[in-house]
Amino acid sequence: MSLLDVNGVDFSYGRGKPVLQQVSFAVEAGASLGIVGESGSGKTTLLRLLLGLTRPDAGTIALNGAAIDTRDSSFMRGYRRQVQAVFQDPYSSLDPRQSVFDIIAEPLRSLRIAGDHVALVAGALDAVGLDATSLRRYPHQFSGGQRQRIAIARAIVARPQVLLADEAVSALDLTTRVRIVALLQALSKDMTLVFVSHDLGVVAAACRDIVVLERGRIVESGRTRDVLARPKHPYTQALLASVPRMPEGLS
Ligand SMILES: Nc1ncnc2c1ncn2[C@@H]1O[C@H](COP(=O)(O)OP(=O)(O)OP(=O)(O)O)[C@@H](O)[C@H]1O
Ligand SMILES: [Mg+2]
Repeated sequence: MSLLDVNGVDFSYGRGKPVLQQVSFAVEAGASLGIVGESGSGKTTLLRLLLGLTRPDAGTIALNGAAIDTRDSSFMRGYRRQVQAVFQDPYSSLDPRQSVFDIIAEPLRSLRIAGDHVALVAGALDAVGLDATSLRRYPHQFSGGQRQRIAIARAIVARPQVLLADEAVSALDLTTRVRIVALLQALSKDMTLVFVSHDLGVVAAACRDIVVLERGRIVESGRTRDVLARPKHPYTQALLASVPRMPEGLS
């Protein structure tokens, strides 16, 4: 049993063609996994299933051996506490009318987490490298990179076991991207990171393990270093050839 076990997952939207087919992989506690594939390969769909927002047509997703049951609301509340996510767009993902404190504290309220919320929020803010004066401010007062730090603070405030990131650095300029990747890498020492990206360079920098999706199927997986050094599947070779690598020294 791993921390996260995905087993034989099939999924399609309505009666449409299959978007995920027989997807199986495991994520060990403390590992970091990159999920890569070109646009439309099913990465976001897979992440939505991992978050429990949608149910697979077949197969199971289990956390610590317990399969997700999206119809069981008390199970899902426990699950959401353990599995949180950060998305691509730091502009639309933060409510402009809420202060940074309220944004970061939101999971503590909605998950009904006991304890000192002020201290937990302060801890999360510190972990993402923002200072305490940020708490009374509003999202529009921050840059894209800072907003993504706020979104990450919100995702980690309840101390989840798994942090999912969907193209979480794709909207940022290169320098900011490198900094946020470094932050996610640092956080992955305390939690398991699942990082979805079409950018192999970012995954090479941030993730120990990699899964390559092609049209909803896993075509290659393993240690990132091995897969990228000797890609076996033509699709991985093509992905590798088409994506600029992170600048040397930054990875
Ligand atoms: N809500 C939806 N309804 C119907 N089809 C959808 C829906 N969302 C995604 N799809 C389809 O599912 C497939 C996989 O989409 P998905 O968003 O998971 O890909 P992705 O790998 O995340 O792509 P990108 O890199 O562009 O974000 C695509 O063919 C897409 O058109
Ligand atoms: Mg996507």
